[in-house]
Amino acid sequence: MINLNFTVVAEKCIQCDACVRDCPRHIVTRIENQPVVVTENDCLQCQHCLAVCPTGAISIFGLKPEDSFPLTAETLPTFQQMKTLVRGRRSVRQFRNENVSRELIDELLTDTSHAPTGCNDCDLTFTVVDDRKVLNTLLEQLVKLLEDKYAAGVTVPEFLWSSVEAYRKNGTDEFFRGAPHLLVISAGKKAHTPQEDIVLTLANFELLAQSAGLGTTWCGMLKFSIDVVPEFLANLGLEHDCNFYAMMFGYPAVHYARTVQRDHAAVLRRIGD
Ligand SMILES: Cc1cc2nc3c(=O)[nH]c(=O)nc-3n(C[C@H](O)[C@H](O)[C@H](O)COP(=O)(O)O)c2cc1C
Repeated sequence: MINLNFTVVAEKCIQCDACVRDCPRHIVTRIENQPVVVTENDCLQCQHCLAVCPTGAISIFGLKPEDSFPLTAETLPTFQQMKTLVRGRRSVRQFRNENVSRELIDELLTDTSHAPTGCNDCDLTFTVVDDRKVLNTLLEQLVKLLEDKYAAGVTVPEFLWSSVEAYRKNGTDEFFRGAPHLLVISAGKKAHTPQEDIVLTLANFELLAQSAGLGTTWCGMLKFSIDVVPEFLANLGLEHDCNFYAMMFGYPAVHYARTVQRDHAAVLRRIGD
């Protein structure tokens, strides 16, 4: 049983029915000049009713509309700014030896929580490695596990093994690229679309982090390593069979002066006239 605490300030409601039309579950209706929710248990908890109301008359879950960010042409980034961010985002593999403040990490993760999830499940866990020293320890543990598997005759893919060797020979970190931080996003059992939720949320984090002056890189190397050593997930406090993906981040030690040019990297097909 969900308690929506759906309330309408009668003096503010202009009976425009924006909330009625926008509810994806069609559970808001107007009775005697006042919107009401008819079947509370069907609510997706998406807060569209609160977001769409032009006068801020609706509250749900005790949330005040005035605590939301206002959305206007002045507050939103322009198309050109978004284009530059999307094209200018790079996989950063050179990091400054400096931790990002906990305040900035927390702020980024709070904003990242706004990424969409299938059925609005929001069943994600953010696991953050807060310090390069900790990530160094984890790297050592990961390499050791891979070596143990290799010694036991388990097949370790060539590209992973060469990164193990590079680490042992020269201390080169091809796993986490010398980043001070790692964000691992995992999904719980309630999620209907766990892998999509994880990847989409990380993609939002990446753009936010880069707009805040940080560098990020997707950590496919961890994913590939876990295929060989699933037990390493316990070192991150995660269950061995969980859905996850990870991203390194930190202050970049490189500046890209311009975007790359991949305008036609994807195949474009058109269905229609
Ligand atoms: C799912 C995924 C996994 C990736 N894994 C790694 C990785 O483990 N290490 C790495 O250095 N780069 C990794 N990358 C970065 C890609 O190599 C990079 O996106 C690509 O070369 C294009 O460069 P750009 O991101 O700067 O546009 C990964 C990217 C994606 C999308």
